[in-house]
Amino acid sequence: MQIFIDSADVKELKAVAETGLVDGVTTNPSLVAKAGGDFFETLRQICAAVPGPVSAEVVAQDTETMLAEGRKLRTVADNIVVKVPLTPAGLRACKTLEQEGHPCNVTLCFSAAQALLAAKAGATFISPFLGRLDDNGQDGMGLIREIRAIYDNYDFQTQILAASIRTANHVRDAAIAGADCATIPPAVFRSLYKHVLTDTGLDAFLKDWKATGQTIL
Ligand code: G3P
Repeated sequence: MQIFIDSADVKELKAVAETGLVDGVTTNPSLVAKAGGDFFETLRQICAAVPGPVSAEVVAQDTETMLAEGRKLRTVADNIVVKVPLTPAGLRACKTLEQEGHPCNVTLCFSAAQALLAAKAGATFISPFLGRLDDNGQDGMGLIREIRAIYDNYDFQTQILAASIRTANHVRDAAIAGADCATIPPAVFRSLYKHVLTDTGLDAFLKDWKATGQTIL
């Protein structure tokens, strides 16, 4: 499963990218507003820091303006992916942009039927929002399983990008359910390393090694 980081904070993204485990980045208008700074300059810095796909979202509501925004976003760097909302206008823009060779990430997906339409539009990525479904009393992970089954039934190549991830268990369960990618907030990414038995086990190994009085180098 590819690991993307869900953030527009350049400093934080550079730090996480240094782990060598990051395959891409997703941003959205709320994350851009939270990070502050010039949108295009932020995207340039993120694309330079992370070699994989970097999703940047259009904000127009009509297809023609989405197309213009998407084409402009794609001039920033080769690894930009145009994020479009799961609306009729968004899927029309997706289909045209994909036909022009511009990869798209269809966002704000909350049902398997919506994901089917995004695949029919030729989307490179579909972003089902797990956490927001869970917050709404629905089964976010069940949606990933449904989309996986539908895409496998018809051999759709659209990649399932599990989004709105809240916990390390979300990451684990999305991987078990067959998501192709998960976009993870930086704090949740850092939590993936953690287990109390790793910490206590390492402490014990180091204490016992010190008692031998030996060195490796
Ligand atoms: O970027 C899309 C998605 O990951 C947003 O997550 O936490 O705002 O529901 P969240």
